[in-house]
Amino acid sequence: MQTFLVTGGVGFIGSNFILKARKEQWANIINLDKLTYACNPQTLAELQNDPGYYFVRGDISDTEMLGYLLERYQPDAILNFAAESHVDRSILSPLDFIQTNVLGTFQLLEASKAYWEKLSPEKREKFRFLHVSTDEVYGSLSPTDPAFREDTPYAPNSPYAASKAGSDHLVRAYYHTYGLPTLTTNCSNNYGPRQFPEKLIPLITLNALNAKPLPIYGDGQNVRDWLYVDDHCDAIQLVLQQSRLGETYNVGGNNEQNNLTVVEEICEVLDKLAPKPGLRRSDLITFVKDRPGHDRRYAIDCSKIKRDLGWEPKENFDSGLLKTIQWYLNNPNWVEEVQSGAYQTWIEQNYSDRQVASSPI
Ligand code: NAD
Ligand code: DAU
Repeated sequence: MQTFLVTGGVGFIGSNFILKARKEQWANIINLDKLTYACNPQTLAELQNDPGYYFVRGDISDTEMLGYLLERYQPDAILNFAAESHVDRSILSPLDFIQTNVLGTFQLLEASKAYWEKLSPEKREKFRFLHVSTDEVYGSLSPTDPAFREDTPYAPNSPYAASKAGSDHLVRAYYHTYGLPTLTTNCSNNYGPRQFPEKLIPLITLNALNAKPLPIYGDGQNVRDWLYVDDHCDAIQLVLQQSRLGETYNVGGNNEQNNLTVVEEICEVLDKLAPKPGLRRSDLITFVKDRPGHDRRYAIDCSKIKRDLGWEPKENFDSGLLKTIQWYLNNPNWVEEVQSGAYQTWIEQNYSDRQVASSPI
C-alpha cells in the first residue's frame, strides 16, 4: 500500500480525507499538523489503534523536522492541506496567513524537492506533491459572469485568498522550474462533518441549536458553490492517482446558493430534527455589518475534471446538509471541546462591534 504524508490532517477537510483513505485503504497516512485553534485533536481519535496511521505534531515551516519525516517514512505522495483558512481572521491578522500559506508552503516544497531528488528512479517517477487550494484565488463574480475555469486569471481579494494564490504560484513554479511532480486542486466551499464552527454552516447550525442570533453579513445575497466534503476527498484521490503532472483542477459542487437561503434551510432542518417549543429558528436571523471586501459570488466550472477523470459531485445539497447537521447533533462532546476557551474570544472579536439590523444592511 502507498504511504501519504498529509499536512493539516486534523483540520476539517484533511481529517475527512484521512478517515476515507484509511476506510477505503487508499494508503497509510502520516499526518503532520501544528494543531492550531482550528482543530480538535479528538477528531481522529478513532484511528488511535490503527497501525496504518501515525500523527506528528509539527509545522510545515520546520525544515529539519520535514527532512526527518520524509527520510523516515519515505512517502509516495505529499498532500498539502495545512493552511490558515478563515477569511475573517485573515482580515484581522494577515501575518499568520503569509507565514503558513506562503512561507510554509515554500518550505514544504523545498523539503519535498530535496527528498524527491534523492529517490530511486522508480520511486521518483511515481512521487506526487498535491496542493489543496481554493476558488477564492479567482476573485469575485457578478451574477451573470461565467463560472471560474482553470484558466480564469487570478484576482484574489482577501489576505487569505492572496496567500493561497501565492502558494499556488509557488507550486506551479516548482513544477516548471525544477520538474517537481505537482498537482493543484482549487475547490469551492466545503461543508460536512468536523468543520470548525467559525465557518458559516457549522456556526449557524450551533447558534440555531442554542437559540442564539444567526449573523448574516450584509444583505445575505452573496453566493457560494457548496461542495460536500466526501465528494471533494474523492476528487483529490482521483487527481492524485490519475492526473497528468503539473495539472490544476477546479472542484465544485454544482450547487450555487446565497447565504440567506442556506441559513433558512439550516433553520428548517433543525426545527424538524430538534424542535424547541415556541421557537421558529428563522426568527433568529440577524443581518450584521458586512465583511470588508466581501466577494459577491463564487462558481466553479468543473467540466475539466469530469472530462479528464470522470469525477462529478454525488451528494445533493439537501441530503448533504441533513447529514452534516445530524453529525453536529450526534457529537456534542466534539462541539463542546472546540467551543471552549479561545473560540469564545474569537466570537467576541468578530461579532461584538458589528452593527445589527433585522433587515439587510
Ligand atoms: P482547517 O482550518 O479546518 O484546517 C487546517 C489545518 O491545518 C488545521 O488542522 C491546522 O492545525 C493545520 N495547520 C495550520 N497551520 C499549520 C502549519 N503551519 N503546519 C502544520 N499544520 C498547520 O482548513 P480546511 O477547511 O480543512 O482546509 C484545508 C485546505 O483546503 C486549506 O488549504 C484551505 O485553504 C483549502 N480549502 C478549504 C475550503 C473549505 O471550504 N474549507 C475550500 C477551498 C479550499
Ligand atoms: O470558497 C472556498 C473558501 O470557502 C475556502 O477557501 C475557505 O477556506 C473557506 O473558509 C470558505 O471561505 P468563505 O469566506 O466563503 O466561508 P465562510 O464560511 O467564512 O463564509 C461563507 C459565506 O457566509 C460568506 O459569504 C460569508 C458569509 N458569512 C460567514 C460567517 C462566518 C456570514 O454571512 N455570516 C457569518 O457569520
